[in-house]
Amino acid sequence: MPIVKFIDLEGAEHTVEAEIGQSVMQVGIANLVPDLVSECGGNCACASCHALVDEGWLDRLEPPQQLEADMLTCVQDYRSNSRLTCQIKMRPELDGLIVRVVNNGY
Ligand code: FES
Repeated sequence: MPIVKFIDLEGAEHTVEAEIGQSVMQVGIANLVPDLVSECGGNCACASCHALVDEGWLDRLEPPQQLEADMLTCVQDYRSNSRLTCQIKMRPELDGLIVRVVNNGY
């Protein structure tokens, strides 16, 4: 199983196992990663799951679809490595992915 390393708002690391096909948001929520929020349940309709993907992993992700890109224009503190975690599906190639949770105001 691939792993994902989440870094919470306090800087604590949470390394958890993911199932192929799960979204990164689902992985984090299922493993009770602090501060990670999913208001819309993964429907790309709220942007509460916004997080920062470690720069070294960006080119291994599929680029955002138009809806995600549109939603990202609404997030506080947008960065070049901002993504909606509900839109990143786990693949074997993403084993070791590092995601930093941010405060989205929820
Ligand atoms: S959980 Fe709502 S956009 Fe990701």
